[in-house]
Amino acid sequence: MIEFKGVKKAFGSKVVLRGVNLTVGKSEVVFIVGSSGAGKSVLVKHLIGLLRCDAGEIWLDGKEISRMREEDFYEIRKKCCYIFQHSTLFDSMSVLDNVALPLRKGRGLTVAASRKTAMERLEMVQMESYAHRFPAELGAGLQKRVAIARGLTLDPAYVIYDEPTTSLDPVSARRVDALIRDMSKRVNVTSLVVSHDLTSIFTVADRVAMLYRGDFLIDGPPAALKNSTNPVVQQYVRGQADGPMET
Ligand SMILES: Nc1ncnc2c1ncn2[C@@H]1O[C@H](COP(=O)(O)OP(=O)(O)O)[C@@H](O)[C@H]1O
Ligand SMILES: [Mg+2]
Repeated sequence: MIEFKGVKKAFGSKVVLRGVNLTVGKSEVVFIVGSSGAGKSVLVKHLIGLLRCDAGEIWLDGKEISRMREEDFYEIRKKCCYIFQHSTLFDSMSVLDNVALPLRKGRGLTVAASRKTAMERLEMVQMESYAHRFPAELGAGLQKRVAIARGLTLDPAYVIYDEPTTSLDPVSARRVDALIRDMSKRVNVTSLVVSHDLTSIFTVADRVAMLYRGDFLIDGPPAALKNSTNPVVQQYVRGQADGPMET
């Protein structure tokens, strides 16, 4: 379980989080929405220690991580995987070796053993036929699936997806949606998804929380977003429906 308790974060005089509270339960798929610059990435980066909060507490599986030492985050990053918005695959390595790398580094597997497990991961995301290709040969949607496969190699309990479908074509976006859903149902991962994509929200999310001016405006099932009478929420939903906002 992930718990943010009264988390505050500012950069100089710019207050980004004003004391946010959010709980994400086991194998839930929770979406974080909000306009560009609302602080969505800032919020989730606290979970892997990329940012440290100014006040409040963050708990992961009953352990406070917000005051933990940097070196202890090494273990946290194995169980809590962050899939960045932009591809972080290594261009000089095949798809298979990109996925095998965490197994060599994190588990100390041999090259052969890591490739065998990496192939199983690629099969999970139906990407085994691309194993011997290089990232640059693949489109953005396929690269994203490789990044997700790599994120799953160390069997994380938590996966944070930062704008997984932004800049993907609709067909690729829906395949990524299916993958997120599938991972949460099949391997019980808990997913925190930063997204502007209304189609994803309404097909994948168990819950949606909207960040606005440093705090959560709503936190509930996807229908709560659609049915909200709050003018800010209505405007957000209408704006997204007219055309997704790029960040
Ligand atoms: N490391 C940083 N230093 C200073 N300002 C930052 C930093 N990271 C994010 N910000 C600012 O915090 C605000 C929220 O950013 P972010 O969480 O990336 O927005 P988004 O909701 O689009 O993901 C933005 O105004 C951004 O400029
Ligand atoms: Mg962001």
